[in-house]
Amino acid sequence: MDRLGVVGCGLMGAGIAEVGAKGGCSVIAVDVSDEVVAAAKERMTKSLAKAEAAGKLAEPAETILGRITFTSDMSALADREIVIEAIRETIEDKSALMSKLDSIVAPDTIIASNTSSIPVAQIAAASSHPERVLGMHFFNPVPVMQLVEVIACLVTDPAQADKAAEFGATMLNKKVIRAADRAGFVVNALLVPYLLAAIRALETGVATKEDIDQGMVYGTGMPMGPLTLCDMIGLDTMLLVAQSLYNEYLDPAVAPPSLLRRHVEAGLYGRKSGRGFYDYSK
Ligand code: CAA
Repeated sequence: MDRLGVVGCGLMGAGIAEVGAKGGCSVIAVDVSDEVVAAAKERMTKSLAKAEAAGKLAEPAETILGRITFTSDMSALADREIVIEAIRETIEDKSALMSKLDSIVAPDTIIASNTSSIPVAQIAAASSHPERVLGMHFFNPVPVMQLVEVIACLVTDPAQADKAAEFGATMLNKKVIRAADRAGFVVNALLVPYLLAAIRALETGVATKEDIDQGMVYGTGMPMGPLTLCDMIGLDTMLLVAQSLYNEYLDPAVAPPSLLRRHVEAGLYGRKSGRGFYDYSK
């Protein structure tokens, strides 16, 4: 498979399109918003320039970018062999997209959702061909993080899941792990309770944000502190992920802390909006 479609050109979608093009795929990247598309192009250009300067690219960045077509016309996906969606993390948006894709792509086109925490079965239920729907969960920043989780739900055709896993390993050059269809899969089910605990520590005055972050960086060798990581993931995404995990497990450890809700309500989404727990405006 080398004809990839990506729906949603935010942080994750842009990264997925970049790794697809780097792996040699022709990529059609779709987003409804021209603003998001322009930002995605800029992000990819910068990311590839950085990788090129570090000697990480086998081809010129321009050649890689040349494999990506950006459009707001969803029907451009008609000839794709695999479509990966990375749109907003709500079941309503993802279900609406599944039925739209049903009328555009071939019945055996793989549709992979980059959902962080919504069970894949819920998304597949909105497709008239649920057997081709599965999860491919990437990590931020996608061009740097090596992992993808592949999730087959109860109704996914195992052969399609195998094809998606092979695509992830060969064309996207990722390490692939398989996970059961439970909210959070492997990584977020372990990581998110830790990140939410850090927000609660800040909320209850255990330490300053700087000390919480430094504690985990210098005490445990994490590449970045948990509050910095929340800002990088996006606090709006963190809230949606926490809500999905809470819906699934009813575990207070994954209930969204008030401080997280307040940040999102105030439009403080983290790095992407210029301010989250930290200020990035400068
Ligand atoms: N393509 C290929 N390689 C690239 C690249 C690109 N576009 N851009 C950068 N790189 C390479 C760099 O050359 C560098 O390589 P070396 O280590 O060999 O020098 C490496 O990637 C790191 O890049 P930077 O120097 O730019 O970054 P850094 O050293 O400052 O580290 C970081 C930044 C990678 C984000 C690091 O802090 C980190 O790993 N943080 C943790 C991130 C994390 O946990 N992500 C998961 C979030 S959870 C999630 O995403 C799931 C969800 O559903 C919420």
